[in-house]
Amino acid sequence: MAKRVYLQTFGCQMNVYDSERLKSSLLSQGYRMTKTPRDADIIVLNTCSVREKAERRAWGRLSEFCRYKQKNPEVVLVAAGCMAQRLGQALTEKMPYLDLVVGPDRILQLPEYLQNHPKKSQLAICSSRNEFDSQKIWEKEVLPHRKIRFTSFVAVSRGCNNFCSYCVVPYVRGPETHRPIQQIIREVQLLARSGCKEVTLIGQNVNSYQFEGKDFADLLQVVNDQTDIEWIRFMTSHPKDLSERLVEKMATLPKLCEHIHLPLQSGSDRILKKMNRGYTSSDYLKLTDRIKKRVEDVSLSTDIIVGFPSETEEDFEQTLKLLRKVEFDSAFMFRYSVREGTKAAQLKDDVPEDEKLNRLHAIIQLQKEISGRKNQRLLGKIFEVLVDERSRRNQNKWKGKTRSNKTVIVDGNEDLLGKIVSVRISSSDSFTLFGEVQHQIFEKTPIN
Ligand code: SAH
Ligand code: SF4
Ligand code: F3S
Repeated sequence: MAKRVYLQTFGCQMNVYDSERLKSSLLSQGYRMTKTPRDADIIVLNTCSVREKAERRAWGRLSEFCRYKQKNPEVVLVAAGCMAQRLGQALTEKMPYLDLVVGPDRILQLPEYLQNHPKKSQLAICSSRNEFDSQKIWEKEVLPHRKIRFTSFVAVSRGCNNFCSYCVVPYVRGPETHRPIQQIIREVQLLARSGCKEVTLIGQNVNSYQFEGKDFADLLQVVNDQTDIEWIRFMTSHPKDLSERLVEKMATLPKLCEHIHLPLQSGSDRILKKMNRGYTSSDYLKLTDRIKKRVEDVSLSTDIIVGFPSETEEDFEQTLKLLRKVEFDSAFMFRYSVREGTKAAQLKDDVPEDEKLNRLHAIIQLQKEISGRKNQRLLGKIFEVLVDERSRRNQNKWKGKTRSNKTVIVDGNEDLLGKIVSVRISSSDSFTLFGEVQHQIFEKTPIN
C-alpha cells in the first residue's frame, strides 16, 4: 500500500514553496498525503528559525510528534527546513525519536532518503552548500503542488548575502543563488496553463536577482511579456537594491501588481547602522516617496523590529515618526529576539522584555490606525479582485485580493472562485475591505 505522509509547514513563503515542491515530488513517487498525523506513516515538519518564538513552536510540535512516535514506533519522523539546518545532528541528539533531519536545500532529496533509510537511521542531511551545490540546486525542476490553484509562489533566488546583524537566514539558507531565467519562465507558464492567475516571485532578497546580465527589472519584463499569467507580484525587496528601473517597471508593466513589501526594520539611523541595513531613514523616505509618486495606487507594506539592542525610547520614536510619514498599508511587527551565531548576538540584549512588549503594542496600535484610515479612503472605489478562497468565517462569502494586495470579502457563489472580478468597496476595517461584485472583468476559456 502507498505510504502516507503528513506534512506541516512553519515559516515564510520560501518554506511554503519548498513544502509544495516536496509534496509534488512525494506524490509523483507514489506516496499519498494525509490531513492528520494519526493517519500517517511518515510525519514531516518543515521548520523556521527566524525568531525564538518560531523555534519554540517547532520544538513544541516536534516534541508532540516524538511522544506520538513513542507509542507508534513504526512512524518515520522527519524535521526539515531552517531549524533542522541550524541544529543538524544536535537535533537528533536532543530528540532521539527523530529519524531524519533535512536542511532546506536537501528537502527534495527526502523521498530518496526515505527509500534508502526507511527507519531509525538518525541521519542529519544538512551539509552546507558549496559552489557545486549552488549550481546544482536549480537542476531538479519540480512544479509545486498547491492547495489553492489560482495563486502560486515561484522562487527566483535562494539564500541571502546581506547578513543583517539580527538575522539567521544567511546562515541557514546559505549564500544567494539565482535561478536561470528560462526555468522561471517555464514554471510561470506551466502554472498559467494549469489555471493559475497570479504568481509571486520570491527570494530572500528578490530584487538583487542577476542572471547572465539580466537583473530583476529585466526578469519582470520577460515574465510580463513571455507568459500568460495575469498578475505578477514579488517579495521580499531590500531597499538598498531597489533600482529606478524597477520602479519604472512597476509603473508601466500591465501584469505587475501595485504593491511592494519593503522591510524598513527601524526608523533610527543609529539602529539601522547597527542592523547593517545599508540605508538611512531619509534614503528610505526618498525611495518610498518616489514609488508613491510614480506608481499610481501603489500600496506599501513593511517589517519592523522593536527592541533591538540599545534601542532607546528616542530611537523608537523615530520609527513611529517614519511610520506616520510613509503611511504603510500594512506592517509585520516583531520583538527583537537574539539568534545565536549572528552579529547582533554579541550585543547586549538590553531592552527589557516588558519594554519590548510595550513598544510592540504601541506600534501595532499606530499601524492599525493608519491602515484603518487608508482603507477608509477606498470606500466607493472599484478594484479588480482575484477571488481565491471561501471565507473561513462565512461559508457564503468569498475572499480575494486586490492588485494592491488588500484582502477583500465579497458575497457570491462558487463561480467566483479563481476569477478576477470588479468589486466596489462598501466598508472596511484596518485589515479587510468588504465589497460587492460589479461584473467579471474577464473570464478566460479553460485550457485543455
Ligand atoms: N528578507 C527576508 C526577511 C526574512 S525574515 C525575506 O525574504 O522576507 C522576516 C522578518 O523577520 C524580517 O524582515 C525582520 O523584520 C524579522 N526578523 C528577522 N530576524 C529577527 C530577529 N532576530 N528578531 C526579530 N525579528 C526578526
Ligand atoms: Fe535576513 Fe536581511 Fe537577508 Fe532579509 S535581507 S533574509 S532580514 S539577512
Ligand atoms: Fe524562517 Fe527559514 Fe523562512 S528561518 S523565515 S523559514 S528562510
